[in-house]
Amino acid sequence: MTTRNSSTLHDLPRSRGHIQVAKSFRRCRWLLVGVLFFAGCKKDPVDPKPPEPTPSEFKVTDFTAPEQCASCHPNHYQEWQSSMHAYAFVDPVFFAMHDRGQQLTGGELGQFCTQCHSPIASRSGETPPFFDRNRLSPISTRGVSCDVCHSITKVNKLFNAQFAMSPGNTKFGSLDNPAPNAFHQSQFNALFDRSEICGTCHEVENTLNTRVEETYSEWVQAAVAGMSLQCQDCHMPTYAGEAAVGGPQRDKVHRHYFVGVDVPLVDFPGADLQRQMSDSLLKNAAEISVNAPASVQTGDTLRFTVKVMNTRTGHHLPSGTAAERQMWIALEARAADGSLLYQTGQLDANGDLMDGHSVLQPNADRDLVVFRQKLFDETGKEVLFFFQAKTVENNLIPLFSLKTASYKIAVPAATVGPISLDVQLRFRSLPPYFLRELNLGELVAKVPIVNMEEAKVQIGVTR
Ligand code: HEC
Ligand code: HEC
Ligand code: HEC
Ligand code: HEC
Ligand code: HEC
Repeated sequence: MTTRNSSTLHDLPRSRGHIQVAKSFRRCRWLLVGVLFFAGCKKDPVDPKPPEPTPSEFKVTDFTAPEQCASCHPNHYQEWQSSMHAYAFVDPVFFAMHDRGQQLTGGELGQFCTQCHSPIASRSGETPPFFDRNRLSPISTRGVSCDVCHSITKVNKLFNAQFAMSPGNTKFGSLDNPAPNAFHQSQFNALFDRSEICGTCHEVENTLNTRVEETYSEWVQAAVAGMSLQCQDCHMPTYAGEAAVGGPQRDKVHRHYFVGVDVPLVDFPGADLQRQMSDSLLKNAAEISVNAPASVQTGDTLRFTVKVMNTRTGHHLPSGTAAERQMWIALEARAADGSLLYQTGQLDANGDLMDGHSVLQPNADRDLVVFRQKLFDETGKEVLFFFQAKTVENNLIPLFSLKTASYKIAVPAATVGPISLDVQLRFRSLPPYFLRELNLGELVAKVPIVNMEEAKVQIGVTR
């Protein structure tokens, strides 16, 4: 694997003093898991080239459309239709990136993107490299729909959607005593209660054999560090009720919102609720603390640190498509009269952070700290898209770990105290420069910036 470690921030030994389970996760179970248990979860050896789905494996008519499930599973349908799984083959960013990738590689990407974003389309031969979006079967446009997951029989490899499917009359799931119904057969499969069914897609190796999304591997690492929750425990919380209209009352039925950090950027059912849930997930993911002196003398330098801890995810923070994500420290120091002594993490007039990607004020923010992934081609040049990456450099925060940023501020002789420090940990799923590059600049205003954490500190000033 080709991963370099960033040297801009230093990793401290993981801290277990800060673990707090988020309110919504309280019902989850935290146990210590022996390292031995995970000895069998080693990464797959790198194949020369990730295999592609066989386009003729199925016909689209082998699968059932999600609308057909709605009458008996109204909750499942209503929740799923607002999820990113339903958005996966609607997302304008997906199509812009996919088309760019096919153009840049002369179609070499093949079914690489579609094998995860719409397995029904790719396995039925509907998505050759330059496919016409407007000529897809309706079921293909539904992305990761009910029948994608509930036709999975076996996970072959834990990356690039290498799973076996058996579409048709039998729906597979984790109920070991399903009530019979007139529409389909049901079959228990223990896989559905385990992270592996998610890991087969939530681990991406590009066509240059570089792992660019590693949520599943990070989860294995988090489990070794003592976290014993499956993906479902956090992303599919349970409630008591019916799994189907008229079915038996059950203690545990699973929510299908699959809340993460992305929100739909086009009109989409349930978008407001999805946004609220994403907001609160992010606000319960991390903690920050500021370590500053009680006072500073005028003419001196004020030195302090900000620690950011990943306390409650099941993987790194951010995770997944971490090259697009931006989680950063925004900080302002003001004197008692309100005058600004220092700032970092502010945006330029285009809405970009002032790092190398800012067109208006490139690299103007020297102390900027962004937790993200950077991508490089084989010559070491930074590239924007993960299908171009030969190497990656990660500045992500593993679970139970913390990263420290250090700051120095010159305190002018005339400063009137106390100095107020306002520190925020901010997040957004897609930066403006990235959307502009894809000619999707009109979407910039739709991407929310979430204040995940905030800390305020006062520092006395002596003469
Ligand atoms: C991304 C994969 C995925 C998609 C898409 C998906 N499901 Fe599920 N579903 C699961 C998993 C995993 C479970 C079991 C969770 C567990 O036991 O931990 C489940 C459980 C269920 C159950 C059993 C009852 C329960 O809630 O535990 C039903 C019924 C169900 N899903 C119906 C649907 C329907 C209908 C859709 C589409 C509207 C759908 N699912 C879409 C993964 C998925
Ligand atoms: C005619 C009503 C009806 C329709 C339509 C229907 N289901 Fe079901 N389904 C049920 C009932 C009833 C159960 C059993 C619920 C229970 O035992 O709690 C069930 C159970 C399931 C389970 C759990 C199986 C297991 O063993 O874990 C899954 C998964 C599922 N359905 C998926 C689907 C999908 C996907 C669709 C649409 C393609 C669909 N269902 C359409 C009535 C229906
Ligand atoms: C067939 C492939 C596939 C499977 C299986 C799958 N996912 Fe996904 N998942 C995706 C894709 C593709 C997206 C991104 C869609 C988009 O935003 O365009 C996604 C998005 C998500 C998101 C939202 C991420 C965000 O940033 O908002 C969550 C959370 C998630 N999946 C959880 C799960 C869990 C939990 C499971 C297992 C029960 C699972 N997924 C199984 C393909 C899959
Ligand atoms: C202990 C709870 C927990 C577990 C277990 C967990 N997650 Fe998450 N997940 C979170 C939280 C909190 C966030 C929001 C912060 C972040 O982005 O990391 C998140 C975010 C995500 C995202 C969006 C990441 C991004 O930054 O773009 C995806 C995708 C995801 N999870 C998938 C998974 C999958 C797949 C698994 C299992 C392999 C899993 N999660 C296990 C809590 C959990
Ligand atoms: C192995 C499965 C897999 C493959 C292959 C894959 N994706 Fe994804 N994609 C995912 C998952 C899982 C997520 C959600 C991760 C997250 O939210 O952090 C995702 C999220 C996304 C998103 C939404 C997040 C964002 O950046 O806004 C876009 C856009 C996207 N993928 C485009 C693509 C394109 C284009 C390709 C092909 C070059 C591709 N994907 C190939 C699984 C895959």
